[in-house]
Amino acid sequence: MNTLTPADRAKYAASRAALSLVEPDMKLGLGTGSTANWFIRLLGERIRVDGIKLSAVATSDRTAALARSEGIEVIELDAAGWLDLTIDGADEVDPALNLIKGGGGAHLQEKIVATASDRMVVITDDSKLVDTLGAFPLPVEVIPLGWTASRAIIEEMLEQIDVDGREVTPRMNGSELYRTDEGNHILDLHLKRIGDPHRLSPLLNQVAGVVENGLFLGVADQIMVGYDSGQAHLL
Ligand code: 5RP
Repeated sequence: MNTLTPADRAKYAASRAALSLVEPDMKLGLGTGSTANWFIRLLGERIRVDGIKLSAVATSDRTAALARSEGIEVIELDAAGWLDLTIDGADEVDPALNLIKGGGGAHLQEKIVATASDRMVVITDDSKLVDTLGAFPLPVEVIPLGWTASRAIIEEMLEQIDVDGREVTPRMNGSELYRTDEGNHILDLHLKRIGDPHRLSPLLNQVAGVVENGLFLGVADQIMVGYDSGQAHLL
């Protein structure tokens, strides 16, 4: 553990504490990202050591691959029907437990899985706690057809919105446009401050080419915050 960065020690602490929320026979949602990866590794260890049985729905291909490699039974959401608990990371968390997610490009599946769960608990290091959302660029997943038109419509719409920045950039993977697991692209909205996320989110999703945006409003039930000291507590 001494070789971990302070951020990783905090992510590990949050993940370890969240493990106590898992009970045998639960159907879990597993998030995507470096914090979720810590949780998945610890969950695999608990399954191997304690021999508990449970199944899980993954929010991305890479999460599914890691979970399987850890010996976790991965099932489809439609086979699960409904989930007991989803554990996932976040890019920003505000005092009302609203989130920005999608830094890892998986927010579409993450939102579907989280909203199909009795409870969503976010695991995070304390650096993600903010007073106001928006310093982290807001990811918006768009279908490839006409993505430049979708960007133009979003840019025009942002003129009417209470934000401090209006730059919209396509996410890249090297010299190629980034592709999500669904084969879509992501536009990152550099808003700096989002004055009214509840107004912005439905407006974004009304744009024809938009699949889903990364605002999770009223979705998270609790936040497990980890610190590099190894402590963690639930908000
Ligand atoms: C992926 C996400 C992640 O949860 C978010 O980007 C946080 O990632 P990390 O735990 O690596 O900081 O939303 O789409």
